[in-house]
Amino acid sequence: MSKQTLTITDNRTGQTIELPIEHDTVPAIGLRQLKVQADDFGMMLYDPGYTNTASCKSQVTFVDGDKGILRYRGYPIERLAKESTFLEVAYLLLFGELPTASKLTDWNARVMAQTRIDDGLKNLLQTFPADAHPMGVLISAVAAMSTFYPEAKQVHDSETRLRQVLRMLGQLPTAVAFAYRNGRGLPAIEPDAALGYSDNFLHMMGFAGDGDGGIDPVLARAMDVLFVLHADHEQNCSTSALRNIASSDADPYCAVAGAIGALYGPLHGGANEAVLRMLAEIGDVKKIPAYLDRVKGREVRLMGFGHRVYKNYDPRAQIVKKIAYEVFDVTGSNPLIDIAVELERTAIEDDYFVSRRLYPNVDFYSGIIYQAMGFPVEIFPVLFALGRTPGWLAQWMELMGDAEQRIARPRQIYLGEGERPYPPIGERG
Ligand code: ACO
Repeated sequence: MSKQTLTITDNRTGQTIELPIEHDTVPAIGLRQLKVQADDFGMMLYDPGYTNTASCKSQVTFVDGDKGILRYRGYPIERLAKESTFLEVAYLLLFGELPTASKLTDWNARVMAQTRIDDGLKNLLQTFPADAHPMGVLISAVAAMSTFYPEAKQVHDSETRLRQVLRMLGQLPTAVAFAYRNGRGLPAIEPDAALGYSDNFLHMMGFAGDGDGGIDPVLARAMDVLFVLHADHEQNCSTSALRNIASSDADPYCAVAGAIGALYGPLHGGANEAVLRMLAEIGDVKKIPAYLDRVKGREVRLMGFGHRVYKNYDPRAQIVKKIAYEVFDVTGSNPLIDIAVELERTAIEDDYFVSRRLYPNVDFYSGIIYQAMGFPVEIFPVLFALGRTPGWLAQWMELMGDAEQRIARPRQIYLGEGERPYPPIGERG
């Protein structure tokens, strides 16, 4: 077997170092030995946006972006989306194995038993302006939970950790639905723990689809599958934000609130909202070529397209596209689907997108479904956050049990002024 090391020669000095290779990586700290002068700091890696830096070892989610593969704990996303419920997938992400039937029944009951929210949280949710963006409200709600459950600070106690996991899974949909209805002057609908996770969420939102007070099973299943598809995606922007925050032993509410903040941006989870606004702006399939000219002229980005990791079809986007038509059979079609399908067809044949390997991502079709189900555009990123919560929590649990992890603290290349004399205020230019 060949030697599992990497030999690096510093051509400034002729110094050669040998670094161990493990899992196709080398320890970045090994480069620090490379110095020109003995008192130099030593060499570092420069990697803005962490395009080629592994920050952790993880067993939760596998993505092969070139082949368009996504697996949670080894199970293909296609199979989980077909066979599993969202809470079953949450269990899988958190504990590493699919639950048996009796464990799943118990798990569902334990999460659903946590769906009532504190009166203090209700009071807080009533203080936001009616037009407050739901992501700002959700960030505040999750951060506020840190004050209601101070025991959450005991991040190194596994039983305390699990209690916070159950609270977050159970309470977040209730907080979202409460804030949504309150913002519209509608009375709150209490959670019904006898329902499934997604049925209960749609029930609390007031989306009884079939007119007799129940939720249409096709819509409830579509919601559940969309949550499954969003449940984890390894070390993306929001998960990395969560790991960074939690690496200081901050409590999980603060860490998840920070992750939601990272998700809010239009380059990440805010893209589903941005796609809908883009499709509405295009407004007509005839206007697609002109819009793509603006994209290619770098005036705007084609939202819902492109991905840091996928250089092939995002497998989630294909499932979402299929669900769209199932939902439209119940709700009636969303006219924006025709624009989206034609936009995708035109873009994936265009050399600009082909040469850059840009394909639809999970956000391209999801908003069209949410809109057909009755969700307002600004709540779309919140739906992403609800789906991603078990993934964030699974990554947090993994981090807390990882003896190799330390507080996240990147380095910089300082290019500012050297030391200079301090001018008194009257002598400044
Ligand atoms: N529209 C037009 N051009 C694009 C797009 C796009 N959506 N995405 C990438 N490109 C181009 C870039 O301009 C760049 O071209 P260049 O090499 O000629 O300069 C090239 O493709 C590479 O793009 P980067 O920005 O370097 O790719 P990066 O990995 O940094 O960004 C990102 C990935 C942020 C997702 C990007 O593709 C994007 O902005 N997409 C639109 C927003 C979006 O849909 N975000 C959701 C992502 S999925 C998720 O977070 C759940």
